[in-house]
Amino acid sequence: MLIDSHGRKVSYLRLSITDRCNLRCLYCRPQSEWVFLPHEQILTFEEMFELVDVAKIAGVEKVRLTGGEPFARKGFIPFLARLHAKYPSLDLRITTNGTMLAGRVQELREAGVACLNISLDTLQRAKFEEITGVDAYGLVRAGIDACLAAGMRVKINVVALKGINDDELPEFVDFARDLGVDVRFIEFMPIGYQSRWSRDNYWPAKDIVAAVEELVPLDEVREASRNSGPAKMYRIAGGSGRIGVISAVSNHFCESCNRFRVTSDGKLRTCLFSDKEYDVRSILRDPQHSTQELLELFARANQEKPMGYRLLQDRQTNQVCDRAMTAIGG
Ligand code: 5AD
Ligand code: SF4
Repeated sequence: MLIDSHGRKVSYLRLSITDRCNLRCLYCRPQSEWVFLPHEQILTFEEMFELVDVAKIAGVEKVRLTGGEPFARKGFIPFLARLHAKYPSLDLRITTNGTMLAGRVQELREAGVACLNISLDTLQRAKFEEITGVDAYGLVRAGIDACLAAGMRVKINVVALKGINDDELPEFVDFARDLGVDVRFIEFMPIGYQSRWSRDNYWPAKDIVAAVEELVPLDEVREASRNSGPAKMYRIAGGSGRIGVISAVSNHFCESCNRFRVTSDGKLRTCLFSDKEYDVRSILRDPQHSTQELLELFARANQEKPMGYRLLQDRQTNQVCDRAMTAIGG
């Protein structure tokens, strides 16, 4: 079991399937050149499979597959189906930009996927193109509709961007209420190499909640029943949907952090705000390697897992990150 010196236990792995993405979200992309990792550096699905096997042994109960955009990688759905078949009780989740979903929902259901997190930062087509660089709003909406029609659970992730999408709060509340989905606002974080983080666009969670309360009565969902990780969730009176905030910047949840991240090129990161990486790939690619070696690497990494909020304070004044967010996976 991976328990660190702060008593934190790792039970959740976020695995980036690919650093490639068909969008260029302003909060994610570097401002200069955008170079994808060469294919041979990316873990094969076999290697990812082994990684999950070992993570399971180490006590991981929940795996989230992220990107880049995970559906941009060929063979992703069969990989999902295999994982689900081998580990039916594993809590398997996916975070996607939603552009590649419509038309694949049946396949996804058959692969055992019942719930998706879909990123959507605006409900306006033109603004979607401004934020992501691509005119794909209609594709995402079609993907969401298809998931809901198939009875899948959908959570919408909105990066809270002051001056960009704060004017759409009433529309997002209606969206949550009318569709019966969770809409979760994530505080804009200063992460990613050369990302466009700026204090001017930072919209703190408490201001978001106060602004929603001006629109509708909210009812906070109590801890035990919320099953929502670090999100604070609120039921909206008069509907089945919920609004939530993820206060990654203003109110860190380092004390209860239960996660490891692995980049698509097989580097373990123990904290979103630390650039320290542990090379899982070189072990996986050593023909002589053993499960024990991987477990030892996990244990060492976990012992060194920082309290990230201390690093975050640095980031806000002096952005230091050597990886684009799209390589880390959110
Ligand atoms: N701040 C907050 N959220 C971010 N995401 C990507 N970059 C940032 C950032 N700088 C979100 C994406 C997606 C999730 C994986 O992380 O919108 O919902
Ligand atoms: Fe792609 Fe997600 Fe990054 Fe947007 S935030 S560019 S959808 S990986």
